[in-house]
Amino acid sequence: MSIRQRVGLRFRDEIEFLKGWKRNRTAVGAITPTSSATASRMASVIQAASGLPVLELGPGTGVITKAILARGVLPRDLISIEYSPEFCRHLREQFPTVDVRCGDAFALDLILGAQKNAMFDCVISAIPLLHLPPAKRRELVLDLLERVPAGRPVVQITYGLLSPVVSLPAGYEVRHIAFMMRNIPPAQLWLYRKRST
Ligand SMILES: C[S@@+](CC[C@H](N)C(=O)[O-])C[C@H]1O[C@@H](n2cnc3c(N)ncnc32)[C@H](O)[C@@H]1O
Repeated sequence: MSIRQRVGLRFRDEIEFLKGWKRNRTAVGAITPTSSATASRMASVIQAASGLPVLELGPGTGVITKAILARGVLPRDLISIEYSPEFCRHLREQFPTVDVRCGDAFALDLILGAQKNAMFDCVISAIPLLHLPPAKRRELVLDLLERVPAGRPVVQITYGLLSPVVSLPAGYEVRHIAFMMRNIPPAQLWLYRKRST
């Protein structure tokens, strides 16, 4: 792909992002798409050889989706849940064989439907959490951790200093994995998992 085509695609992503952002600033929760360096770092936790699908929350313009596929995940093994119908349309155009589901990540059983009891290799999440009450954030992370094997992660991007979920019950771990300066704004990456012992 030529530099011109690449710049064109990137520009289209920015436009999609700005349209979504203008419509609902709280739900989009960022000022520009995630950088590719951040997306790759988030996707680096994936173990494609596990054979399990990957669950992505809040794909937005698809930067992280692309990084997940670049880790060797087959498009049919990726379920991406996005709230905004505009982003969903754009994602389906960009990744026609990824299972993009338009809906609310807080209603997982509903949106996963036949896959509601599926196990995922990991969860990669970019949904904004900081504007939500701490109990709701914790509930979501605990729900997500029921959908991955013990020891496997839920990775969350955030723009605050602290983890959106500061404590989990005994037997669970909250770990800071990266501070990404190459992101606008700079981002923190957090990992949650159930210890496998
Ligand atoms: C910070 S943006 C993600 C940006 C994305 N990484 C990118 O580079 O374009 C957060 C995304 O999560 C979506 N979102 C917010 N709340 C959601 C929810 N409850 N369920 C699913 N998606 C949600 C927003 O529509 C937005 O696309």
